[in-house]
Amino acid sequence: MKKLTLIIGALVAMTVVCLSCSSKKQSGTGETNEGKVLVCYFSATGTTEKAAQRIAELTGGKLHNIEPKVPYTEADLNWRDSLSRSSVEMRNKSSRPELKDSLTDLSEYSVVFIGYPNWWNTHPTIINTFIENNDLKGKTIVPFMTSGGSNILNSEKELHESYPTLTITKGLLMNDVSDDDIKSWLKEIGM
Ligand SMILES: Cc1cc2nc3c(=O)[nH]c(=O)nc-3n(C[C@H](O)[C@H](O)[C@H](O)COP(=O)(O)O)c2cc1C
Repeated sequence: MKKLTLIIGALVAMTVVCLSCSSKKQSGTGETNEGKVLVCYFSATGTTEKAAQRIAELTGGKLHNIEPKVPYTEADLNWRDSLSRSSVEMRNKSSRPELKDSLTDLSEYSVVFIGYPNWWNTHPTIINTFIENNDLKGKTIVPFMTSGGSNILNSEKELHESYPTLTITKGLLMNDVSDDDIKSWLKEIGM
């Protein structure tokens, strides 16, 4: 009787362990990425933040908001005004807007997603600040973007040109994408 109780106890314990394993977030390939994925994003008006949340949900990654030291106001974001902060920054390829946290601890992550809005058909220069301030060597960098219609191709091209020693995967424009679209992209890039 004692032996039977022990066997039943062991079976219950094994079932609990298996259930907790299967409840972990799964990626496109079904492998768990928990603990190694950081989903970083810069979002001036909230759209890219929502896209980042979807990626974090599907990969089990942790979210990290790339915040500017000085937040962008509505006037700063006025692309019709050639003197607005965003227009001035984006005209000057070497502008590097300051971050709220100049350093981010990336040591425990092997995959770093970086999301941003399309500004003037590329990434905002604060993305350059983030990449240049942090040690991304040896990590897999995965770009994603939201936009009013422009694609991610020019941003990807510029990232490769600016950072030839970094490993940067194919990115995803996340306008109107389904979870299945995101999953097949994750699978394609080996996540
Ligand atoms: C300064 C500025 C420039 C922009 N330039 C473009 C552009 O060239 N092409 C485009 O499709 N959308 C452009 N947009 C629209 C944004 O990419 C789009 O609204 C994005 O989803 C906003 O993301 P967020 O809410 O995370 O900031 C621009 C927006 C701003 C503020």
